[in-house]
Amino acid sequence: MKVFITKPIAERGMEIFKRAKLDVTVWKQKKVLSQEELIKKLQKYDAAICIGKYKLDESFFSQCSHLKAVSLLSVGYDNVDVEAAKKWNIPVGNTPGVLSKATADVAFLLMQMVARKAVFGYRKIVEGNWRETYPLEDLGVDLEGKTLGILGLGRIGFEMAKKCQRAFSMNVIYHNRHRNEEAEKELGAKKVSFDKLLKTSDILSLHVALTPETKNLFDYSAFEKMKPTSIFINTSRGGVVDEKALTTALKKKIIWGAGLDVTNPEPMKPNNPLLKMETVAVLPHIGSATFETRNEMSRLAAENIAAVLLGKKMPNQIKN
Ligand code: DGY
Repeated sequence: MKVFITKPIAERGMEIFKRAKLDVTVWKQKKVLSQEELIKKLQKYDAAICIGKYKLDESFFSQCSHLKAVSLLSVGYDNVDVEAAKKWNIPVGNTPGVLSKATADVAFLLMQMVARKAVFGYRKIVEGNWRETYPLEDLGVDLEGKTLGILGLGRIGFEMAKKCQRAFSMNVIYHNRHRNEEAEKELGAKKVSFDKLLKTSDILSLHVALTPETKNLFDYSAFEKMKPTSIFINTSRGGVVDEKALTTALKKKIIWGAGLDVTNPEPMKPNNPLLKMETVAVLPHIGSATFETRNEMSRLAAENIAAVLLGKKMPNQIKN
């Protein structure tokens, strides 16, 4: 059985393929395959790990209907048409759970970078502008005792809430489709309406999937409801935010600052005005990028493929 992987993955995943005696080809070239090139290549393979911006839609599955299994190397699956996968009877897997802590770490990092204007301070040094220190310059905001609002209190949101409560004794409020009783019990988290979340949060951290319901959910009218002192953090998907509206909200001081690990589009253009703002920190989608986490993600992705090729059920099959 032959497996194609669109980018090199960590050792743990490769070992699983070796043990399962599967014939694996890894696309190692820096030139990323186009959607058409990938579909052409896959004609000779039984399964694939698709890493990158590929659209796993009706057209993909209809042209690759021979595939026995596909896995992503991510928890997010907004690039997958789950109904089409079901229609063509191709199990598609993701890598949930193992990246929750690492991604929450990045949300926590961004929150602190924004609160203390870390990027601005660093830039001041490298640009040779660190001269005198003035008592009323370079001031950030305290995080102790603030209200953290979580949109989407799932695994990653829960980890972020735990960190914020332990480190800064924050009150936690959240908005979700369902109640998170564990978080309510463990953290005293309170479920509130979306409007109340916007109006009450000092730090608002997004942990929702990109779906038709959440696309551009953060438009100008949403930012207008937030506190002028608030910090907006996004480590979920750039598409949840109307980036122009965010830029305007920051320029007009409708909100205080923003930390983004995800942008729309990705990569963000180097001349994006957000990159010049004092109270903004942007990272290049590194939420899950630690050695440990990528190793675990490679294990889950490989297990998704190996299980099916060895006649078992895919352990982390995406189902809507
Ligand atoms: C995920 O797993 O969805 C992360 O955002 C990496 O893409």
